[in-house]
Amino acid sequence: MRIPLIAGNWKMHKTVRESVDFARGLLEAIGEVNGVEVAVAPPFTALHPVAEVLKGGPIRLAAQNIFWEESGAYTGETSGPMLAEAGCSLVIIGHSERRQYFGETDETVNRRLFAALAAGLHPIVCIGETLEQRQAGQTFEVVTSQLEGGLTNAGADQIGSVVIAYEPVWAIGTGVTATPEQAEEVHHFIGQTLAERYGEGLAQTTRILYGGSVKPDNIRELMACENIDGALVGGASLEIESFAAIAGFNKG
Ligand code: 13P
Repeated sequence: MRIPLIAGNWKMHKTVRESVDFARGLLEAIGEVNGVEVAVAPPFTALHPVAEVLKGGPIRLAAQNIFWEESGAYTGETSGPMLAEAGCSLVIIGHSERRQYFGETDETVNRRLFAALAAGLHPIVCIGETLEQRQAGQTFEVVTSQLEGGLTNAGADQIGSVVIAYEPVWAIGTGVTATPEQAEEVHHFIGQTLAERYGEGLAQTTRILYGGSVKPDNIRELMACENIDGALVGGASLEIESFAAIAGFNKG
């Protein structure tokens, strides 16, 4: 049984004050959460203030990145223990924007994965093909190599706390959502790949989120797919009304 996870990735949006106000409003708008986990990933500056607002409530806190060393002379970086103490329980790793603009590779994703696990954080590992790769028929190949590279040396016991996010790059911020059929095809493939590597039991419990232009009006059809276990939401997570609607996809 996989409990769906709806996570909002705020990217580089919202100051501390905006984040705190938003978190308060979101708590009110979402109310009770049943049968779904909800998380938000504010920018680093707002993590701790937002954690204070969310404390004791149903919304979990995620960071958008993590560095692999615990401490040291690494100007500009943030470690696992720092994120955990700030109140995070999840961390997004290997987002395509980090791969595109900041030189993230499968190898660095893998290092971040172990740093997250060591700090007791659940990594949300992002994978997904570009439009060119899809058009060249390389989707499964790309997804397999990102999955295998990102999870290198992780044992079955560690995979238990990992969440995978399939985010086709061509669907991010474009308004073009993968159709439920396109997403489900890749999610099913990821599930099979996990089953081959880690066994059927673990694959059955590992959540695979979809990300890319998720909106209130497409969340239900996506969530109706057997292998889609939640969503990583960008743009639509920046407004209380739309994110609350997405997080409440299973209400009435
Ligand atoms: P959009 O929902 O804005 O397409 O962004 C998706 C995303 O990148 C979430 O991590």
